Order: sequence, then C-alpha cells, then structure tokens
Amino acid sequence: MPDYATQYRCIGKGFCGSVWSLEGHQDENSAIKREDGAPGRSVTNDYEMHMRVLQSAHRHPPSTPLSIPQCHELIQPTDAWWQPRLQQFPAGYTACRALISERIPKVPRRISDKIADLFCVGNTTLAEFVKNNADDNACLIRPYLGRRRRHKQQSPSTSRFQRFSLRNVPLHLDQMEALGLDTTSYAETMADALAMMHWGARIDANDVEFVLAPPRKVDSPSAFQSEYLGTHCMWILDFDCCRPLTMDEAGIERACEAFFKNDPFFPKPGTGGAADEDLWQVFKKRFLMASLRIMAEATEDERNLAAKLMERIEEEGHLRKSRTADQPDSAN
Ligand SMILES: Nc1ncnc2c1ncn2[C@@H]1O[C@H](COP(=O)(O)OP(=O)(O)O)[C@@H](O)[C@H]1O
Ligand SMILES: [Mg+2]
Repeated sequence: MPDYATQYRCIGKGFCGSVWSLEGHQDENSAIKREDGAPGRSVTNDYEMHMRVLQSAHRHPPSTPLSIPQCHELIQPTDAWWQPRLQQFPAGYTACRALISERIPKVPRRISDKIADLFCVGNTTLAEFVKNNADDNACLIRPYLGRRRRHKQQSPSTSRFQRFSLRNVPLHLDQMEALGLDTTSYAETMADALAMMHWGARIDANDVEFVLAPPRKVDSPSAFQSEYLGTHCMWILDFDCCRPLTMDEAGIERACEAFFKNDPFFPKPGTGGAADEDLWQVFKKRFLMASLRIMAEATEDERNLAAKLMERIEEEGHLRKSRTADQPDSAN
C-alpha cells in the first residue's frame, strides 16, 4: 500500500521552480521539481535535455566519479499522479507540471556540521542554528574551481543576522586547497562532464550545476575519498536552461558564452595566479582528451571544435582579465 501521509519537504529552490522530497519514505530517493517559478522556465526542456545527457553518458561512460541523477518522469498538471499526492504538499499548493528525478543524496550532518563550523567561525550562535535547522538538512556542496574568496577568513562576524545556508554551500578554490581536497581530480571530472554534454549530448550546458555529494547507495561509480568530506562523487543537475548546440562556429561561441556565464564552477584561464593556471591546464588537457574519445567517429571538422572551444575560452579569459585589471578578484 503506498503511503500518502508523509509530507513533502522543500529541499531546494531556483528560478525555474521548487524541489521537493519525501524523507523516511519508500520514495525518498526521488526529487520532484515543480514548475512553479519564473514564467518562461520549463521542466519539459529540463526533461528533454536531461534525457540527452543520460543517453550520452550511457554511450560514453565517464571514467571519473561523475554521477547523473536518473530522470524518471514528466508529470502534467492534469495527471492522476497528483490526486493522492497534492495533500502531501503544504496547503495552497496546486498541481503543476513537474519533473521526477533521482534525488542526489544529501551530505550527512556529521560532515555538514563541520562545514557550518568552517563558515560560521566566531559565530557559534549561527553555527548552532544552522546545525539544527530543518531547512539546512538538504546539504549539497558546490565546488567553485573558478573562484577564490577575496578576503580569506575575515574578522569573524558575530551578528545574529548573518545569513548562511548549507543548501548549495559554495566551496571556493582556496578553501578546497586548505581542506586538502583533490582539486585536480575535480577539474578532470568537470572536464569529462562538459565534453560529454557538448559532444555526446550536443547541448550548451548552460547553467548546469555541479555538486559534491555522497554516491548513490547501489551501483555507484568510482568515488572520491577524503578525510574531510568522506566518500563522495561529483553530480550534475539542472538542465532547464540548456539548449541544443550546433556543431559549428556559432556553437563554439555559444559554448564559450555559457562557460563564462555559469556559476564559477570551471577553472578559468588567464586569471594571473599560478595555481589557477595549472588547474586550467589540467581541465583543458582532460577536456581535449575526453572530446577525442567521444568524437572518435565524428568528422575531422567536428573533432577540431574541441580545440577551437579551448582557444576561444582562453582568448575570452585573457580579455576579461585585461578589462578587470583594476579589480583583480572580480574576473570570473
Ligand atoms: N535531484 C536533486 N536532488 C537533490 N537536490 C536537488 C535535485 N534537483 C535540484 N535540487 C536542489 O534544488 C535546487 C533547485 O533546483 P534546480 O534544478 O537548480 O532548479 P532551477 O532550475 O530553478 O535553478 C538545486 O540547486 C539543488 O540544491
Ligand atoms: Mg538551479
């Protein structure tokens, strides 16, 4: 007998919609993305792009610890699915278009507690609040390989009103280095993911998110091991802003634009820092390698697109750096 008594909890919010899950329930491994956000954003497109990514990953399995949530079902507002389940959402919520996919496992409290302490240093009231706050239970970590914090540990804020959330908590490159995390492997995994999305799924990967989180319980691929974060994988999510990519110059321009528009996940060329440049070289080398593997049967013109994209990104990176020469930390 299905259990329709457990209430859905909101585990995330974006411009497209809100994301919900059932905890302690037979369906706890599912995430429901409701199309109840800004007009013009579409879970139908999310579904179509997500399916392309899954098919591509099936054809070209990444060799790095990259996980892609399974994509289960697109639900229409009139579908019978809603009938028994609407009561499981808070009062006032109506049936809408929704996408059901696999829930990315949350970072367990024993690890997210350490992250709360790291970010709320000097403000134990805030740290304790976050550690016990139900809304901060759904912790995912964003690896920002393309950004360092401007001011390392600032003088600690003791304000009760300082805001901090464990949902999508950003770990910047300097923090990952300090925590001994394997930024090189993260860069390689991101490069594999981007090559797979561009040349296998043939999408621009616009606005796709990367998160570090535990591997799925069964059938998980290889994983990263870390003393601080435990066993974890890199997951990708949120495909609703992706568009098909044309295999030509216009496609390269589009992919370059998406690369810089995205949150600062990817390592960046031309920032001026030696460690950042090294990480960019790791990313580039791996991207070119993965691209050749995926495009083994493509035409020569298509295979050349990968190198063209890397050149275009380097050119754009240096251009951005020279434009922001007066504000070195704002080059993202
Ligand atoms: N499958 C999932 N598993 C766990 N958390 C998710 C999942 N999908 C989305 N989320 C959470 O919900 C947030 C919003 O979802 P997202 O797909 O990014 O929506 P939007 O398109 O509105 O940005 C994400 O940033 C993430 O924190
Ligand atoms: Mg999002």
